Amino acid sequence: MYRFIIKPFFFLFPPERAHYLAMGCLRFFCSIGFLQKTLSLFFKKENTILEVNVLGLKFKNLIGLAAGFDKDANYIDGISALGFGFIELGTVTPKPQTGNDKPRLFRLPKSLALINRMGFNNKGLDNMVAQLQKKRADKTVIIGGNIGKNKITPNESATSDYLRCFDALFDYVDYFTVNISSPNTPNLRALQEKQPLNDLLSQLQKRNNSHKTPKPILLKIAPDLADSALDDIVEVVQQNKLNGIVATNTTISRQGIIENAKDVSNLGAGGLSGVPLKKRSTEVIRYIRNKVNNPEFVIIGVGGINTTNDAIEKLEAGANLLQIYTGFIYEGPTIVKKINSGLLDYFIKKEQNV
Ligand code: FNR
Repeated sequence: MYRFIIKPFFFLFPPERAHYLAMGCLRFFCSIGFLQKTLSLFFKKENTILEVNVLGLKFKNLIGLAAGFDKDANYIDGISALGFGFIELGTVTPKPQTGNDKPRLFRLPKSLALINRMGFNNKGLDNMVAQLQKKRADKTVIIGGNIGKNKITPNESATSDYLRCFDALFDYVDYFTVNISSPNTPNLRALQEKQPLNDLLSQLQKRNNSHKTPKPILLKIAPDLADSALDDIVEVVQQNKLNGIVATNTTISRQGIIENAKDVSNLGAGGLSGVPLKKRSTEVIRYIRNKVNNPEFVIIGVGGINTTNDAIEKLEAGANLLQIYTGFIYEGPTIVKKINSGLLDYFIKKEQNV
């Protein structure tokens, strides 16, 4: 039904409008108690074999919704009704901001990919806190807070933006992701360099440790880093005792795209996600897993997951948890259930050593 009716309908609209339209429908359904329950019964795939205990948290399954999809915590009930084990909200910045000019999101349907230069459009921290204070239908879904800095904040003052987000969200999220890897905020990725990264992470961890029960903190990195830069990042992340890495954000590369190169170049700048990113994000996961000599270190694998095989590839490369964004657009809401069903077979066979 998604492939032949729902997707063609939503793909008639520009991508950003389609997103809000689809999510508006989902939110409406979920505002009616019995429809929410019906959706959740249809989409859920529960089995203790799918559960994972990492970061000191119990995930009902290891498939999460990647950051950028629910930037303002508007759709938590709807998304959890679709069977996701966790939702990474944001990226949120202290002040609201409109992001880049539209159009800023483009479909590459032949490549099962997207290019976006959204630029952290979001309603700001106060709005997110207010959203999170509302009662939720599903309290079992794990919530991550993906935090960033405002465009107008210079990198030298970035730490204060991250600390503001961290402090305000501390009581409402289960873990944090520090996003320094979006290609759409000018100069943001310079924060991945050793010295500024160490300054930022040490301040955040200091604040975290002032709490009786600190929260897990992960760092989200770009796929466009050389091995030496990955080495530096892993070193700084471990030095500051972060819990792990989210690998990866979108890429500035245009490799692996099937659409005409000139048409793609006419779309302009932005981060590429989806199938063309898959190989590189898996390489980064494998590289980090081999580098880190600590089984407790968590890697959330994200980039081009559309099928169970893609998910298994990332798990075998060393990921503990997975996230999806672009695959959800192309495969539709049954993607989580399909992948979880496939993973269930995979785990059972693995247990039986088949
Ligand atoms: C993103 N992504 C993203 N990441 C992030 O940390 N903060 C953000 O605000 C956003 N915003 C965003 C918007 C759009 C339109 C897209 C397509 C992506 C990146 C996302 O979380 C993920 O890392 C990549 O998209 C790779 O995963 P997929 O899409 O290949 O599954």
